[in-house]
Amino acid sequence: MNIPYFSLSEQNNSLRAELNAAINSVLDSGAFCLGPEVDAFEKEFAAWNGSRHVLAVNSGTSALHLAALLLNIKPGDEVITTPFTFAATSWAISYVGAKPVYADIDPVTYNLDPAKIKAAITPKTKAILPVHLYGHPCDIEGILKIAAEHDLGIIEDAAQAHGATVSGKKVGNFAPLTAFSFYPTKNLGAVGEGGALVTGSDDLARRARALRNHGCYERYRHDEVGYNYRMEGLQGAALRVKLKYLDEFNRKRRALAFRYTEKLQGLPLTLPVELPNNRAAWHLYVIRAADRDALSRHLADRGIGSAVHYPIPLHLQKAYAHLGHQPGDFPVAEQIAREVLALPFYPEMPLEHVDIVSAAIRKFVTFSR
Ligand SMILES: Cc1ncc(COP(=O)(O)O)c(C=O)c1O
Repeated sequence: MNIPYFSLSEQNNSLRAELNAAINSVLDSGAFCLGPEVDAFEKEFAAWNGSRHVLAVNSGTSALHLAALLLNIKPGDEVITTPFTFAATSWAISYVGAKPVYADIDPVTYNLDPAKIKAAITPKTKAILPVHLYGHPCDIEGILKIAAEHDLGIIEDAAQAHGATVSGKKVGNFAPLTAFSFYPTKNLGAVGEGGALVTGSDDLARRARALRNHGCYERYRHDEVGYNYRMEGLQGAALRVKLKYLDEFNRKRRALAFRYTEKLQGLPLTLPVELPNNRAAWHLYVIRAADRDALSRHLADRGIGSAVHYPIPLHLQKAYAHLGHQPGDFPVAEQIAREVLALPFYPEMPLEHVDIVSAAIRKFVTFSR
């Protein structure tokens, strides 16, 4: 048996004719860096997300970096963020010379806990950078309240959460700036690297457009040091094709997630939950098991893939050793990092695979008790 953890081939095969046509049109036009396909994608993604401005860039990491620059975060500033995320969330803070200040996470959503954010605020705090991990919204309404009380900026990291909603509103419409990633495995994936910065502010969008293109407000007029963070035309064209199917992909993810939850209910595992006011984008289906590594080996022995996102919280990574953290500083994040296991999950995965994986997990749990 072979049940892969993730696969893109079904999606790319079913869209091959449309993707080929889109790629060929860029080859014909020669608009390889930004250009009309990227412009059109920005408008279509903005309409899909209900957002005012979308700036397409070359990765989610670049979008986060631009957001930190746009909030004028500088050396000596502190930004409160989660230790339990992909490292790029913290890179954005480090790139502008500021200090990531971690706060522990909520044991249900695995996202920043507002009470812990409050306790981490100092006179140097400039902003909060929450993540909607695995496509599950963070408590963005609670975080907005704290930011307003303390006059702090917010950057939403929605790299994993295209289409997630809070109180009926899509993520990317709460904070002044939101970063999305279109890395190929994301809910909306490019055929290479890609990302977007989303904002409701005309002023921030204007400066972001310049920063992404060498600081140019007009051709060869550089008002500040800029970056080459432009999206490629080929990515814009491919993303336009995939965006048409994003709602369908997300519906399929939801059906798979509900099936897993139905099949795994009652086992001594922690299953992901959607809070009443939220709708998850179900980027991944992540369970928690006390003997996670043994479960992962058990699945691998049966030809079933799985993955750990993320085994080492950021405060314990070598890259952040200079912050001086110790094991035990963020106990919830550390415990969850020991227990999480992402199960096979992608929109085109057959529902029967959920049943096979769930049966294998049931066998493991029953046997190891
Ligand atoms: C939570 C999170 N933030 C940021 C990123 C960075 O995005 P990218 O890989 O497009 O640079 C990713 C994805 O890789 C991510 O999962």
